[in-house]
Amino acid sequence: MLEARHVGSAELRIGDRVCHLPILEGNGGERVLDIRRLRADCGMTTLDYGYANTASCKSDITYLNGEEGVLLYRGYPIEELAEKSRFVEVAYLLVHGSLPTRKEHDRFSDLLNRHSLLHEDMTHFFYRYPEHAHPMAILSAMVVSLSTFYPELSGNDVDEELDITTTRLLSKMRTIAAFSYKKTAGEPFVYPRHDLSYCANFLNMMFSSPVSPYEIKPELVKALNVLLILHADHEQNCSTSAVRLVGSARVNLYAAVSSGICALWGPLHGGANQMVIEMLEGIARDGGDVKKCIERAKDRRDPFRLYGFGHRVYKTYDPRARIIKNTCHEVLQVLNKKDPLLDIARELEARALEDDFFIERRLYPNVDFYSGIIYRAMGFPTEMFTVFFALGRLPGWIAHWKESLEDPEFRIQRPRQVYTGPNLRHYVPLDKRS
Ligand code: SDX
Repeated sequence: MLEARHVGSAELRIGDRVCHLPILEGNGGERVLDIRRLRADCGMTTLDYGYANTASCKSDITYLNGEEGVLLYRGYPIEELAEKSRFVEVAYLLVHGSLPTRKEHDRFSDLLNRHSLLHEDMTHFFYRYPEHAHPMAILSAMVVSLSTFYPELSGNDVDEELDITTTRLLSKMRTIAAFSYKKTAGEPFVYPRHDLSYCANFLNMMFSSPVSPYEIKPELVKALNVLLILHADHEQNCSTSAVRLVGSARVNLYAAVSSGICALWGPLHGGANQMVIEMLEGIARDGGDVKKCIERAKDRRDPFRLYGFGHRVYKTYDPRARIIKNTCHEVLQVLNKKDPLLDIARELEARALEDDFFIERRLYPNVDFYSGIIYRAMGFPTEMFTVFFALGRLPGWIAHWKESLEDPEFRIQRPRQVYTGPNLRHYVPLDKRS
């Protein structure tokens, strides 16, 4: 579709010049000023740190309403998909734009299974990383290395190739994630099994071992599907924008996704799920004093942020955080576990939500605030949390990379700047410099 309605124009007066900027309206009712002719007509560009007021593209994939806490994947509410769908089906929906028929679903699942093994030569890569290597560094390096083993899209049968490339990446990234964990745990790799579903396979590859078979609990498979679905896409977030920007140079999908993995690693983005647990553990060590943590987060001189709180778009409760908070209780109940960090998280949330600093800035829990509690309960080490976020986000990255390349208005991304450096000056030989 990639269409936005022209609903009028704005008049911009600069000195004696008058520019007319078209106003476009998206399907969610959001309106934008189309400034594509601004420099040509007005001789000016715009400055917008963090692109907080700038749309980089039109997209059919995901709709967010930050004021109302609405999240739709291809028009389907996240709450319905989390409750009724499974991650493989949502991955298909995001990439192809519609829920799969039974035939399409079975073929997609079959491809996922067929492509779940890594080339055996790649397994040796893991032994070249130091034991303390962060799994996000390994993941990014291994994903871009896939491009040395598998050819780029030839453009002959795009749909066929896209399905193979998509399922290859979805399946192999899951294997890479599990192998990177086994490597750091000093345990032998557990290979994917053809008789297990996507999430059951991942749990088995992570936690099964030759000396202690792993019981795959259906409730945990369900919880994993919910978590991956909730992380699957989020319109033009930092890592997806990285995939689009790098992909706009027409580089292969593996390289573009590898750049998205690096962006997601950041503590202000996907890395926040690891930071939340480290923050909660710090509060626990400090005797559970959440007030001190909140005061630090409010202190502008202190770079510390309340991790898992705040969002560029959501100015209300992140709908994903609400679902994850409920899933927390279910998983802890199934595993018959209690986690003191959950009690600290709930108290921290309650205190922050009644604090004027957070109220005035409309700062609420985001997707990262409670997710780590579940991963911990399932036995994932903290450093694997963001890898898990990447596994979830992969279908979204692929969908945006594909959409960007198919966009009839596609252009390589190359922002402008405001130059504030020195004016023209000339070279001075070394022996003449004071
Ligand atoms: C994700 O974009 C996406 O959709 C991302 C994501 C996805 O699915 O892809 O949803 C996943 O990345 C979630 C966010 C995870 N990051 C964190 O939890 C880190 C903590 N959050 C903040 O760093 C911050 O809220 C961001 C990075 C999430 C958003 O940053 P913005 O939009 O640039 O907001 P800002 O820094 O301009 O904050 C506005 C004000 C500032 O105070 P003032 O200058 O007005 O005095 O709010 C304050 C900020 O200091 N603020 C916080 C805060 N978040 C914002 N103060 C304390 N703790 C926080 N967490």
